Amino acid sequence: MDQIVVTGGQRLNGTIKISGAKNAALPLMIASLLSEEPLVLENVPDLADVNSLIRILTNHGVDHRVDGKRRGQMDMDGRTIHFSAQEIVDTVAPYELVAKMRASFWVIGPLLARMHEAKVSLPGGCAIGTRPVDLFIASLEAMGADITVDAGYVIAKASGGLKGAEYEFPKVSVGATHVAMMAATLASGQTVLKNAAREPEVVDLATCLTSMGARISGAGTSTIVINGVEKLHGARHRVLPDRIETGTYAMAVAMTGGEVLLKGAEPGLLQEVLDVLTKAGVAIEPVNEGIRVSRNGANLKAIDIVTDPYPGFPTDLQAQFMALMTKADGVSSIQETIFENRFMHVQELARLGANISLDGQNAKITGVSELTGAPVMATDLRASVSLVIAGLAATGKTTVSRVYHLDRGFERLEQKLSGCGAQIERISS
Ligand code: EPZ
Repeated sequence: MDQIVVTGGQRLNGTIKISGAKNAALPLMIASLLSEEPLVLENVPDLADVNSLIRILTNHGVDHRVDGKRRGQMDMDGRTIHFSAQEIVDTVAPYELVAKMRASFWVIGPLLARMHEAKVSLPGGCAIGTRPVDLFIASLEAMGADITVDAGYVIAKASGGLKGAEYEFPKVSVGATHVAMMAATLASGQTVLKNAAREPEVVDLATCLTSMGARISGAGTSTIVINGVEKLHGARHRVLPDRIETGTYAMAVAMTGGEVLLKGAEPGLLQEVLDVLTKAGVAIEPVNEGIRVSRNGANLKAIDIVTDPYPGFPTDLQAQFMALMTKADGVSSIQETIFENRFMHVQELARLGANISLDGQNAKITGVSELTGAPVMATDLRASVSLVIAGLAATGKTTVSRVYHLDRGFERLEQKLSGCGAQIERISS
């Protein structure tokens, strides 16, 4: 298994190109199931999760074609992929494919809406909590679906098609909002989703569905109204920039010092995070090309955060922020409110000399003056990148194993960081 070896101590200086957002690309790809006509997605990141989802979509009968490189296009530029679901050949999403990635469960919405049936394995994904699917089931049942769970599969039927309904999510869920919104585009009549997720990726999906002929208003607020249409048509859509990747590299620069332009980043997608970093003593400057992040000399201040659904501080940046706070002056606290088991990076950061104590969903981080390199193990996607960030600021060598977690969500991580002066390499074994 591959390892990543980081030799810490270098400041980061240069430019990092921000990729298309994984968490937008995945639901957008799934939306291709809704139409017989092709959906062309631009700026799709080259990630293991994207490739896993392509395999799942292929199993349902979706053809895909990746555009060749155009003149002047760089390796770092996202891919353009044409998805064509002219005919759905199978409405079953089997365990072997779905178990790898939770988002693959989301095919249940479009399959049910277009084919009036779906049989989808209960999902897998990062082991960051129990992650049930009750909200998906309840919202689809509200639209008239008949759902049973049997032998590890969710079996959904809607003979005669889904019907518009009013449904209030008891808890904010990004995935359940994506699925209910996609399903409602082809339901008869009006659907009103209350307490919907407001994440930018939900807005991106709504924008794409609208270009496909869906009638959606309110995406980005907690009430989304969808007026069902008979058919959706093809469209072309550009995946929005990855706010989690943006925040991750901003924290890496904050950690090591230096100055980096995050090219293509959109500050409006992560304002809360940028405000927190500014309070911590990091200089953030929105510029035409993206966001310039720098820290020169000044010490980091300890800042308390609580993770929350958007527009709050994202749980997907909690581990990276914890890594940053391990070297701040003073004591900071982090409360994780989204997932119940998302502190697996704590014991790995401790191997590098971090001083962190845990009490349920709360972590207390006492800043130390120095981290020292050590062998560590990646436990989930965002946790693993927090170890890389910490390694960049540690003295000596940090070896991160189980890096397949990183490959699920960070495109060309080593190239992006080494392009800014980091000493980082992948060792294949
Ligand atoms: C999305 O996961 C993201 N994944 C996650 O990113 C992210 O951490 C999460 O949203 C929160 O922002 C993708 O977009 C592909 P949720 P999702 O449903 O949709 C509970 C990463 O690292 N819940 O909003 O699965 C759930 O257990 C990944 O890129 C139910 O109780 O998250 C959690 O506590 C990890 N019942 C809370 O809601 C349900 O039916 C929020 O989860 C569904 C969810």
